[in-house]
Amino acid sequence: MAGMNRRELVKAGLAVSTAAMATRSAWGKLLATPERVMAAMMAAGMDSSASQLPAIAPRERLLLDFGWRFTFGHGTDPEKDLGFGYHQDDFAKTGEFKFSQPKFDDSKWRELDLPHDWAVELPYVDDDVLKSHGFKPLGRRYPETSVGWYRRKFTVPASDKGRRLNVEFDGAFRSALVFVNGFFVGRNDNGYAPFSFDISDFVNYGAENCITVRMDASFGDGWFYEGAGIYRHVWLTKTDAVHLRAWETVVRPAVDGDTATLELGTIVENESGSRLSVEIHWEILDPTGKSVLNAISTSRLPVPDSRIEFHVSPTPKISNAMLWSIENPQLYTAEVRVMADGKLVDAERVQFGIRDIKFDGAKGFFLNGKPVKIQGTCNHQDHAGVGAAVPDALQWYRLGVLKAMGSNAVRTSHNMPTPEWVAACDRMGMLMMCETRMMSSNHEGLAQLETMIKRYRNSPSVILWSLGNEEGRLQSSDAGERVTATMQARAHELDPTRLCTEADNGGFDIGVIKVIDVAGYNYNLNAPDKFHAAHPERPSVGTETASTLATRGIYVNDRDRNWLSAYDVNKPAWGQTAEEWWKFYAARDWLSGGFAWTGFDYRGEPTPYGWPSTSCQFGIVDTCGFPKDDYFYYKAWWGTEPVLHLFPHWNWAGREGEEINVWVHSNLEEVELLLNGKSLGSKKVEALTHLEWKVKYAPGVLEARGKKAGRVVMTEKRETTGEPAALRLTAEKLPGRDGVLADGEDLLLVRVEALDAAGRLVPTACNPVEYKVSGAGKIIGLGNGDPNCQEPDKPKGATARRSLFNGLAQVVLQAGREAGNITLEATATFYPGVAESLAVPKQTATARLTVQTNAAKARAAVPVG
Ligand code: GAL
Repeated sequence: MAGMNRRELVKAGLAVSTAAMATRSAWGKLLATPERVMAAMMAAGMDSSASQLPAIAPRERLLLDFGWRFTFGHGTDPEKDLGFGYHQDDFAKTGEFKFSQPKFDDSKWRELDLPHDWAVELPYVDDDVLKSHGFKPLGRRYPETSVGWYRRKFTVPASDKGRRLNVEFDGAFRSALVFVNGFFVGRNDNGYAPFSFDISDFVNYGAENCITVRMDASFGDGWFYEGAGIYRHVWLTKTDAVHLRAWETVVRPAVDGDTATLELGTIVENESGSRLSVEIHWEILDPTGKSVLNAISTSRLPVPDSRIEFHVSPTPKISNAMLWSIENPQLYTAEVRVMADGKLVDAERVQFGIRDIKFDGAKGFFLNGKPVKIQGTCNHQDHAGVGAAVPDALQWYRLGVLKAMGSNAVRTSHNMPTPEWVAACDRMGMLMMCETRMMSSNHEGLAQLETMIKRYRNSPSVILWSLGNEEGRLQSSDAGERVTATMQARAHELDPTRLCTEADNGGFDIGVIKVIDVAGYNYNLNAPDKFHAAHPERPSVGTETASTLATRGIYVNDRDRNWLSAYDVNKPAWGQTAEEWWKFYAARDWLSGGFAWTGFDYRGEPTPYGWPSTSCQFGIVDTCGFPKDDYFYYKAWWGTEPVLHLFPHWNWAGREGEEINVWVHSNLEEVELLLNGKSLGSKKVEALTHLEWKVKYAPGVLEARGKKAGRVVMTEKRETTGEPAALRLTAEKLPGRDGVLADGEDLLLVRVEALDAAGRLVPTACNPVEYKVSGAGKIIGLGNGDPNCQEPDKPKGATARRSLFNGLAQVVLQAGREAGNITLEATATFYPGVAESLAVPKQTATARLTVQTNAAKARAAVPVG
């Protein structure tokens, strides 16, 4: 993709789609269809709105996100739950569910688009039982807010008769019951794994249909905020009766020098009722979209209603393979076509990367033959303002924030990730430890594991499967050893190319650790050395570390306000500071690296406090992605750029003459500190260690001068600012894109900052702000990173409010489908001369930001209405 910028690519793409033929540009010559342009753009990380590859005709894959209706049901009272369960015989007949008939009156239900998380919309409730889940009223004790019903009408053309129609959920929280046109079609219990149902037999062809989903979030899957409702995408897939089976296509590259051998396999399902001669045609496109390999499997004759496996033999080779790496994540695409009696009946695209990975007991992790230390973070999946319903572009943004810190890996704790998260890791060059939710060899546990592995085994970013996290009874028992062995054997069978780990917090000589491929340590810095001495050949990784605690922009622990100082000093009994854990891991080559708990703050688990804290404080960045000071520690020692970060802020009115701790995170050689132009001395930087001064406070300018070879190469200042007097609105740069696409999904993510009269960011401003939006977009969430903020995340009617927290807030806007201007207007109220007061407002300031959205082809979707 070298030499091609996004604009040129988009131009190439548009040229192809309007002319429906190959472009004449040098690059375009290789491209045959608009879909290939899209596939190549995505492979290059160029388009984050289309994280899932477009389908190849005659298959259709239509987004079913838009135009749903929603109402609350009830967890205990059937009369408030559409009568569901009122009579004991609801399931006696499978096709008589009235609430799922197209004609059922849902006109009073709320209209909404998916992804949707109703938990984030609920008020906070002061009930300690809800603490871990972010004080949202979910659970059997809150029946009126724990059950939600969704309905969506759609028409199916008469010409679809004979095709197989599947409704696919990328994941929904939780206990889904799915009905179509009054028929019960299936249930799915867990909140993270994708599930799908064949609805072909229940559909009204050439007429209106209705899909109804009852979600019940009364039980949690975890001990953290999990959201509620259909919080991931939903799709309607239409295929021929002879079709590829979902997630069975496997491309398994093995690298030898710059040649890659490709093991190619898939499974075809014949639901046609006839015996046909079937052949699979494979075409491999390189990262630029150029066709580099064609292969055909031997033809076979699947009998009616059978599933049959296809392999290509001998395994074909690609020479001059472009390897996938962290720095250069090259992605290939396999196009798999099913030919039945010589006719193309089904096809799909699968992206994969060619790379070699190895975990070594003595030397740690290797990618493409080179040692790579895993510099990772664990993350839950919620974001400020939107909860668990995180639009694709926001998932890319979150990864971008972590990547910019120098992090090269993420762990999807403690559940299967979204397809967009994995696609973004593939395209951005982030390694992944992919974790399943239920650690068990029971039916559900193995089913979740199997789905995860099949769904993501072609993704080059995935380097480790995690079978579970801190299962108290299992991790150190014989039962744990057996469960692990069963799960691991299944994982190896489905994917012989990757190893498994488990995030354990104890039992480091019995149970799980006896059989697991890669020993996984949560915390417990006393464990790895002992185990390594006894088993030097066994690879290991820090599955979870740190749990360092900090409130962004706060420099004092304050029990009354639930604040934790952002110096790298706070940790729970089991945790470590950033400096403690990284020094430990960095010093041991045989440890493959580790995953800090956590990259982002998340809702729930407000350790060590409780109410009114709504989120945890473990994040290296807050819930909006605004960095805390530790971010720069990691950036200094994980990244490749020079770093000089000085803190705290220098607004300490009333503390004149008192000593303030001044810290610097830097990877330069030496740093000199100055207050109001007077040197306070230089300090040599010691690797992996912060610098510290005690400075008597006087207002003015605190300055750090970073030196290399005696020369100042960077400076950083903290100035005592005036009071907040103005606002600044800035559109965040989202990875993989410039501008906002008018596709109904893309985002405009706005950073709100308080400035003083001289235009300086006021790092202590916590003023209320009101927002109005007009034009081609809407506000879908508001945040400020304050772990104790209980302001609503969603706008109330035309008004949206969210205070600043230590100078910053964030507004998440979503583009509509018509291109045009989005204007965000923000008005802050200031109280000059009073830090915080209920006094009559004396001053307001308004800022506006207008961004034009760009005409874009929306993803293929099921039409609304
Ligand atoms: C770990 C656990 C995480 C989180 C963390 C907080 O033990 O695996 O999910 O709870 O503690 O420190």
